[in-house]
Amino acid sequence: MELRNKTILITGASTGIGREVARQLSRYDNRLILIARRRELLEELSSEIKGNGSKALVFQCDVSSADEVGKILKEVAEKYNEVNLALLNSGVSFRTVEGEQEIEKGIKTFEVNVFGLFNMVKELLNNSLIKRDSIIAGVSSLADGRGFPRSGYYCASKAAATIYLESLRNELYLQGITVITVKPGFVRTPMTDKNEFKMPFLMPVEKGAKIIIRGIEKEKRIIQFPRMTVLGSRILRIMPGGLFDILSRRHLKSIGKL
Ligand SMILES: NC(=O)c1ccc[n+]([C@@H]2O[C@H](COP(=O)([O-])OP(=O)(O)OC[C@H]3O[C@@H](n4cnc5c(N)ncnc54)[C@H](OP(=O)(O)O)[C@@H]3O)[C@@H](O)[C@H]2O)c1
Repeated sequence: MELRNKTILITGASTGIGREVARQLSRYDNRLILIARRRELLEELSSEIKGNGSKALVFQCDVSSADEVGKILKEVAEKYNEVNLALLNSGVSFRTVEGEQEIEKGIKTFEVNVFGLFNMVKELLNNSLIKRDSIIAGVSSLADGRGFPRSGYYCASKAAATIYLESLRNELYLQGITVITVKPGFVRTPMTDKNEFKMPFLMPVEKGAKIIIRGIEKEKRIIQFPRMTVLGSRILRIMPGGLFDILSRRHLKSIGKL
């Protein structure tokens, strides 16, 4: 699908990857539907997009609220008959402290990263916004394959997102709907700016957004990058559990947490 003159919905458009994808797509005469909780950031982006000659609509919405998602997607359906691409990118990440079960962080992570995804997919389909030849691209992570220390809630939520998207891909295939799983490695955004450890192969957000757009245009099943982190995640995935435990403890020691 050429992402030109299309109706494109993006969740998590206020900062980071979502914002940069919206910005880049605004150069090609698209109609952008921008969703996140921080309205002022979305309004700012909307002005920039209109300056680039594309159209933009802003919706303040917490994707973890089924009611809010239902309401805004009804409004979207009144304006547009169809969404050609839905990039479901909203996400949160909290680092946890060893030994402390910070359950509210776990609940929030699942509410946004997993239930937020379910809510959006449900309402996109219920409102017939996603039709034959449309694309749903869900943003998971290369952290979906192992339980990295201090990121248990996040890794578990992304594993759930990846598995759900895989299931959805085959369920919607006969309806002619393409489902893509996006699995970035480290990309410089407000989410990773908080990390206290050295992130291997950290990529500028402009480059990450470009790879995602190119991958969607090619309708890849899975868009994963950068290459070295993909390779690393494959090795970690097949690594015996005992060895993974040793490496995890060594990592905690190196950041002074053990
Ligand atoms: N950066 C990376 O290295 C990396 C790697 C792998 C995967 N990812 C994934 O990529 C996606 C984008 O992350 P990012 O790095 O661009 O981080 P980011 O800059 O923190 O962006 C997260 C976006 O999600 C939105 N969001 C958070 N909670 C929300 C909620 N309850 N309802 C609606 N929107 C919500 C935020 O907007 P508001 O706060 O305004 O609502 C923001 O626009 C996430 O799913 C993340 O897990 C990122």
